[in-house]
Order: sequence, then C-alpha cells, then structure tokens
Amino acid sequence: MAAPAKIGIVTVSDRASAGVYADEGGPAILDYFSKALISPWQAVTRVIPDERAGIAQTLVELADREGCCLIVTTGGTGPAPRDVTPEATEDVIDKLMPGFGELMRQVSLTKVPTAILSRQLAGIRGKALIVNLPGRPRAIAECLDAVMPAIPYCIDLIEGPYLETDPSVIVAFRPGQKPKG
Ligand code: MTE
Repeated sequence: MAAPAKIGIVTVSDRASAGVYADEGGPAILDYFSKALISPWQAVTRVIPDERAGIAQTLVELADREGCCLIVTTGGTGPAPRDVTPEATEDVIDKLMPGFGELMRQVSLTKVPTAILSRQLAGIRGKALIVNLPGRPRAIAECLDAVMPAIPYCIDLIEGPYLETDPSVIVAFRPGQKPKG
C-alpha cells in the first residue's frame, strides 16, 4: 500500500508558540482534514513564531525534507507589523496560485467585512502546495470549504499522492471524472 500522504499544518503565532495560549488553529485544521479525507494521510505539525525566516525555513523543511504534498498555514496574514506569513510563503514558492487567495477572500467577505485584511496566498514549491489561512479558528473551515474541492486535483497535477475526500463532507472536483457521491 502507498505511504500515507503527508500534510503539513503550521500554526504561525508568537503567543501560541510561546505557550501564552493554546494553539486552536492547528487542531482545527487537523480536525477538518480528519473529516474531509478518506485516503491515508499523516499530519506533520509545527507551532512557530511570526518570524519571516523561521516560517520560510519551516515551509522548506516540510516540503523538501518531510515530503508534504500539502502545507497549510494559519495566522500571520493580516496587516500588523508581525504578520509576515504571506511574505515568508512568497520567499519559498516557485509559482503563485492567486486563485486560492481570491476565492478565500471572496467567501470570507460574506462572513466578515474585515476579510479584506487577510493577505493570504497560495503557491507551489516543488511537489507541495502551500496554502495560507487566516488565524481565526472559525476562518479555517470557512476558507477550506471554499478551496478544498480543487486541492486534490492540484496535487495530482504536481505529481503528488491521490487524495480522496468523503463526498458527504466535501466533493473533490477532477475534470473529466464524474463526481462521486
Ligand atoms: N476570514 C474569515 N473567513 N473569517 C474571519 O473571521 N478574519 C479577518 C481576516 N479573514 C477573518 C477572515 C481578520 S479580522 C484579519 S486581521 C485577517 O483575516 C488576518 O488574520 P491573521 O493575521 O490572524 O491571519
């Protein structure tokens, strides 16, 4: 049987990484994928401070050394001085995937007017798709619900593992394939 697909989950937060409060973002992402994915997968989790070089280094480690096909970050996407997750992501990606940020902001704007404050982006590094999510735990499912239907096919295209979703949770769209469920 194929090795489980590795998915990186990176919480970017000065306070969560210092133990000032418990990380809620990482567990929310873990919970989301636990419900959405039915093919074998394994999480590689990190909780790190809002430091551009450290975030970039973590993304490189998860993509290149751990071999994650998907890396999702939460936090650090806003306009505050310490918010540098999109910059760190840009530092390490080969290709920008602007549709992800566009769609997530569009969907989030129906929930909160401050969604325009999130600079979240996505891109490809080698065989890894990196997606930024905002820091609020509530925003995680809102944003993943919007982009998840396209993620398995994106990972097919970058020659990653075949991710299968539970169609009662999220229907993955693959062009030329009849949607299951
Ligand atoms: N997107 C969704 N779906 N739901 C939210 O509550 N909060 C916004 C925005 N996007 C929000 C959202 C706010 S208030 C900010 S400041 C930005 O995301 C950035 O959040 P971050 O810096 O924690 O990543």
